[in-house]
Amino acid sequence: MKKLLTVVLLLLSLTLTKAFSQINIVPQPAEIKMGTGNYILTASTKIMYGPSAEKQAKYLQSFLKNNYGLSLALVLHNGKTCGSSAASIQVFQKANSTAADSYELTIASDKLSIEGNTAPGVFYAIQSLLQLLPATHELSDKKITIPALVINDHPRFSYRGMHLDVGRHFFPADYIKKYIDYLAFNKFNYFHWHLTEDQGWRIEIKRYPRLTSVGGFRNGTLIGRYPGTGNDNKPDGGFYTQQEIKEIVKYAADRYITIIPEIELPGHGSAAIAAYPQLSCFPEQKTVIPENMSSEASKKATGKLVQETWGVFEDVFCPSEYTFTFLQHVIDEVLPLFPAKYIHIGGDECPKEAWKKSAFCQQLIKDKNLKDEHGLQSYFIQRIEKYINSKGKKIIGWDEILEGGLAPNATVMSWRGEEGGIEAAKQGHDVIMTPGGTCYFDHSQNKKEDSVTIGGYLPLQTVYGYEPIPAVLSTEQAKHVLGAQANLWTEYISNTAKLEYMIFPRMSALSEVLWSPKEKRNYADFEKRLPAIIERYNFWGVNFSKAYLDGANTAAEKK
Ligand code: ACM
Repeated sequence: MKKLLTVVLLLLSLTLTKAFSQINIVPQPAEIKMGTGNYILTASTKIMYGPSAEKQAKYLQSFLKNNYGLSLALVLHNGKTCGSSAASIQVFQKANSTAADSYELTIASDKLSIEGNTAPGVFYAIQSLLQLLPATHELSDKKITIPALVINDHPRFSYRGMHLDVGRHFFPADYIKKYIDYLAFNKFNYFHWHLTEDQGWRIEIKRYPRLTSVGGFRNGTLIGRYPGTGNDNKPDGGFYTQQEIKEIVKYAADRYITIIPEIELPGHGSAAIAAYPQLSCFPEQKTVIPENMSSEASKKATGKLVQETWGVFEDVFCPSEYTFTFLQHVIDEVLPLFPAKYIHIGGDECPKEAWKKSAFCQQLIKDKNLKDEHGLQSYFIQRIEKYINSKGKKIIGWDEILEGGLAPNATVMSWRGEEGGIEAAKQGHDVIMTPGGTCYFDHSQNKKEDSVTIGGYLPLQTVYGYEPIPAVLSTEQAKHVLGAQANLWTEYISNTAKLEYMIFPRMSALSEVLWSPKEKRNYADFEKRLPAIIERYNFWGVNFSKAYLDGANTAAEKK
């Protein structure tokens, strides 16, 4: 009898383990309890939703239609609860937990219920449900079998971000929506849209049409890895109209993703300067593009040019009244497009050579009693911050904004390691961690990449192992670390296949860093789930790096 019981228990545990191993939700939820049996979803299942969950119910409905060809009817339910019924999926927002944006997903043979603590919580429950559905668009018998379970889940960090540089290479509006979908699938909630660069200004500003008609296009691009092998002489560029931006912002908001626009200043401004040379301290001087990197058209040109090569350039915004008025007008058009409470104003990599050479800047340093050109950078940022604060918004800047004194209400994005973030948190400022060593997805992920990258080496395991809270911070200081973000700079990313190759699967790994409870993070387990995660990528139709499937990285590590 005892033997029989042992065998039964063993079989039961094997069955449960097997069932559990089929659950491959990324990011890993805080708690999954397996049940028994399955829920059967068919085209005659209804989606019953509460009044505050209509948007999410519609998202679920269109996902099922577009991906499985199942057209489920939507039914509004006005009561607070409705009894369990296998005939309908129930989607409700209900404050039932203290954890922000938490949800409970309950699946039984006679019930499929989604309860989110907040509107995003409802959406996150739906994302978890979608990852329980088959990773194929072809249903053999027009029904979906979903294992019984209960998931109780909530995010660890309130800021879970992905960035995209559309300045070095432009990606069209329709693709930006796809990128936002990918973020939503892994429960990211911020998209940092880097809209202005030396190589291209990408946002329509009606008052300054030359920003896009001139600044949105360049005469050619460096070939190969810097210093490269010449210029391709192919005109390149593009920009988003304000109408497109409004549509993208709404698309993101429908997926509970906040877009933070970045208008870079005072450096990385060559494209704006090409459009409006008065922004430079030296408007008459031709833009420097080394002869061996320049397009033929730009070699012949005089005056200011949109950059065609990579790096950091000396021709930056002059801190003149012309520049401040220009930037305020730009900000006046940018802010109403983006409901985010933040606007990112860059602040990184601003060489001081032009300001050193400029008699105007030297006089300004004296007049304002500033210490030096770093003081001038701080003056620049603080003046812009004051203007943005006066419009009811806050700034985020790269960690260089600490130099010469941090603007009073600024949030710092720590990219040159974690030191800037640690310093800012100690000063009581909010911080978003994006250190190069763990969060720069433009870095190689394979020791032998078959296409050019900017360099560095950031394999999946390093991303997965990242801990955004530095050990040196006290509990109080650590509260200022809102979360982290991966950055995708696009010098060497000129098409969507490469873009996706660079983010997948590292983005999924980062989503667990930011969402899952710290104690639940387990790289060996993530690796085991990778084949299923890859199946999901195939289902989504995205490209991804296969470096992790064949053990190539592990072998390279051992050498
Ligand atoms: C940066 O990577 N320059 C923020």
